[in-house]
Amino acid sequence: MEQDELKQVCAEAALGHILPKLNPDSILGIGTGSTTNKFITLLANHKDKFQSAVASSEATKQLLDKNGITVSDLNDVNFLDLYIDGADEANSKLELIKGGGAALTQEKIVAAVSKNFICIIDNSKWVNKLGAFPLPIEIIPSSLNFVTKEIKKMGGNPILRHGVITDNGNLIIDVEGLYPIKAPKKMEEQLNNITGIVTNGIFSLRAADIIFIASPDGVTQYKNSSSTCQQIS
Ligand code: 5RP
Repeated sequence: MEQDELKQVCAEAALGHILPKLNPDSILGIGTGSTTNKFITLLANHKDKFQSAVASSEATKQLLDKNGITVSDLNDVNFLDLYIDGADEANSKLELIKGGGAALTQEKIVAAVSKNFICIIDNSKWVNKLGAFPLPIEIIPSSLNFVTKEIKKMGGNPILRHGVITDNGNLIIDVEGLYPIKAPKKMEEQLNNITGIVTNGIFSLRAADIIFIASPDGVTQYKNSSSTCQQIS
């Protein structure tokens, strides 16, 4: 099975999981990326079953609009029932690396507001230790020099993602050389404390609640239960 087919199968499984939970007042958070795009296309057939969606990026907002799904501004809602998004890496604590699509800041905000965070990945992203995927970090443009030096002190090798400006008007650096990230929470906090960093792509302080992993053998579902995961199907 190609990776693209696995993403489709995963999106279908996640849709099957959320449909019974929807009601006319539900507001969903919707992530960014190719896996989430497949989910949006499927969700469009059920737009009468929920109120609206909050987008984690301009690209997602456009796709939701195109599919006739009502989009809400995050500042107009108090909480989100569910947030569905992909990831670049996930471990058995359902800690993630995200930001391959440069939308990590809004994704982290949407995740923070959501009662349930459902992550959808193909099995190439399911890893023992995070950090082989270069860690995306959104930075204020004028801080590039300073942040580069600070990250080098931590043993990382930051590479500017050329030609990319985030939805917030900032830059993205991708940090190689951090593998294995032994203490994701600690590293997330440490990076948060560097002046100039807006958001780092470690999602550990707010990890996923449920993950769907598609492999050629089928879709496995794990639930985050007190710092380690439990297979539920
Ligand atoms: C965007 C993300 C995406 O969820 C991540 O890059 C995975 O993307 P895809 O589903 O295309 O593999 O974090 O910022």
